[in-house]
Amino acid sequence: MSDSAWSLDLYLKKRIQLVEAALDHYLPKATTLPGSLHDSMRYSVFAGGKRIRPVLMAAACEAAGGKPEDVLPAAAAMEMIHSYSLIHDDLPAMDDDDLRRGKPTNHKVYGEAIAILAGDGLLTEAFILLSNPQVLTHLDPVDRLEIIHQLARGAGSLGMVGGQVVDMESEGQKIDLPTLEYIHTHKTGALILAAIEIGAIIGGADTVQRRALHRYGEAAGLAFQVADDILDIVADQRELGKDVGSDEERGKATYPALLGLEGARQRARDLRDMAFSALQPFGDEARPLREIATYIIDRSF
Ligand code: IPE
Ligand code: IPE
Ligand code: MG
Ligand code: MG
Ligand code: MG
Repeated sequence: MSDSAWSLDLYLKKRIQLVEAALDHYLPKATTLPGSLHDSMRYSVFAGGKRIRPVLMAAACEAAGGKPEDVLPAAAAMEMIHSYSLIHDDLPAMDDDDLRRGKPTNHKVYGEAIAILAGDGLLTEAFILLSNPQVLTHLDPVDRLEIIHQLARGAGSLGMVGGQVVDMESEGQKIDLPTLEYIHTHKTGALILAAIEIGAIIGGADTVQRRALHRYGEAAGLAFQVADDILDIVADQRELGKDVGSDEERGKATYPALLGLEGARQRARDLRDMAFSALQPFGDEARPLREIATYIIDRSF
């Protein structure tokens, strides 16, 4: 394809197709016992979703010289963990939301017990997949181990789960900017950074590329949650596919609440510029990553 014909839409579409086929391949069938559990796991995973973490993983891998197909087991595992985090995030004990990816939330359809267990199942399934000796066979064992480590660290108590705890503890509280930044870099940034790191490892990034991609991942991950906070205020609920106004209702710590809407927008633009500048060591092979950084802050859902 000539350069002028390159489009982010087409790039996203092709990568998303690969990821969805991989998810379908690797997840237990809905008819596999216990059927209610596997049906519920698949309900949330296939409800839609932008697949931004898997796409970022593929784009980082490609920037480092690898092929998008090479990330698929790791990308599917990442999306399983992300989907679990959304199922639990929506529970009455957490954000208590009714709409996700344009459909009723998992607990609304299957009840709280199955929703909790579907999350547990997806989290575990991710590591069953990544520890399977029959996947990622082209990688050296140390790299494979590091991939599992990065995913676990991004998801755990020093990553996403830790961010979710401080998010909840901060409801209705007056918090400062460093605490807000802790919440966002952990609850959302940590998995996005892990997606980029894993893509870099699979693509065979050298030290300079790896450091650059790390900086990109930090900026893009935080920008993604700043944009999510803004969308909770300005988005159209049908287009967003999840409840709007939910943050203000629960007294959530958000960028617009602390900096105002324009302050939050400026922060998002600054983070996009940081993501751009991190990619300086790369040429056109990082075009998808550059365009995704803009998409992250300009998206309407
Ligand atoms: C929503 O993530 C939760 C956050 C971490 C901001 P996404 O906006 O990636 O949700 P989907 O996967 O597209 O539904
Ligand atoms: C969610 O943050 C982060 C995780 C699910 C880990 P939010 O609570 O803002 O996400 P949404 O807006 O419900 O998607
Ligand atoms: Mg939340
Ligand atoms: Mg939420
Ligand atoms: Mg939100």
